[in-house]
Amino acid sequence: MKQVVLPGGERVPALGQGTWHIGDDAGTRAEEIAALRAGLDLGLSVIDTAEMYGDGAAEALVGAAIAGRRDDAFLVSKVTPHNATRRGVVAACERSLARLRTDRIDLYLLHWRGSVPFAETIAGFQDLLAAGKIRHFGVSNLDLADMRAWWATPGGAALAANQILYNLARRGPEWDLLPWLAARRVPVMAYSPLEQARLLGHPGLVAFARAHALTPAQAALAWLLRRDDTIVIPKTGRRARLRENAAAAQHVLDAPALAALDRVFAPPRAARPLEML
Ligand SMILES: NC(=O)c1ccc[n+]([C@@H]2O[C@H](COP(=O)([O-])OP(=O)(O)OC[C@H]3O[C@@H](n4cnc5c(N)ncnc54)[C@H](OP(=O)(O)O)[C@@H]3O)[C@@H](O)[C@H]2O)c1
Repeated sequence: MKQVVLPGGERVPALGQGTWHIGDDAGTRAEEIAALRAGLDLGLSVIDTAEMYGDGAAEALVGAAIAGRRDDAFLVSKVTPHNATRRGVVAACERSLARLRTDRIDLYLLHWRGSVPFAETIAGFQDLLAAGKIRHFGVSNLDLADMRAWWATPGGAALAANQILYNLARRGPEWDLLPWLAARRVPVMAYSPLEQARLLGHPGLVAFARAHALTPAQAALAWLLRRDDTIVIPKTGRRARLRENAAAAQHVLDAPALAALDRVFAPPRAARPLEML
């Protein structure tokens, strides 16, 4: 499995697992847990969740999935902006740890920018690092101007990721945000890599995938995995799709294949605001 190097040198697999809407429906719970565990078996150790997802239900389901095998997982969770004061961050993290049934979160992110000054949030993250309750911190949904402001805040440059909406249909970040992050060696987490499944019926992607003996989901994921700094976190609650998605990591798209995708999904020609789902 391809790996992404975090600042500090730790390596994490480039393909992980999302959890938004996992845990919403009791009827699918057993299969969702089985899918997450199958992902861990295949080395998809990065599990991305958030206190917001299902108001804690996704974290609780992740806690059940990693029970007895905590060390197989690299857990990512997120604090919602209204909890992101210095004290609020610590209290939110404690609640997430309880739901996840663990003593540490590997990467803890500010979910998006709210009204709390970044200095407060960073101070809370630093308190959590010092207490061993988180191992790395980062941000999500920060466009270039916000990213610069975070970076300029004392302690901010120690971040381990910016998690953003990035997929074939949302290539705007390639214009300025991705180069800025790459120049500073800040890893990217690409969320909604399948555009929440809406990409999968795109005729151009379907044709490309067929020509390359891939499924549309595998093609979309393999395209994101071309980047050395990007962790890709598709969500599925089904083991069969999990295995399908995991196989994308075995397919390296060559230059002609990437050029063919550029003709279907054009790269940006101007700055665009970062989009968010
Ligand atoms: N930081 C943020 O603000 C933010 C925002 C959005 C998402 N995220 C994170 O990123 C993760 C992924 O994004 P996402 O959940 O929005 O969207 P996504 O991963 O692009 O798409 C998930 C959807 O695709 C379906 N799917 C997955 N694999 C498939 C396959 N091989 N064939 C057909 N359908 C497939 C899933 O259904 P089934 O489950 O039924 O298979 C689900 O409906 C989230 O779960 C979350 O962890 C973060």
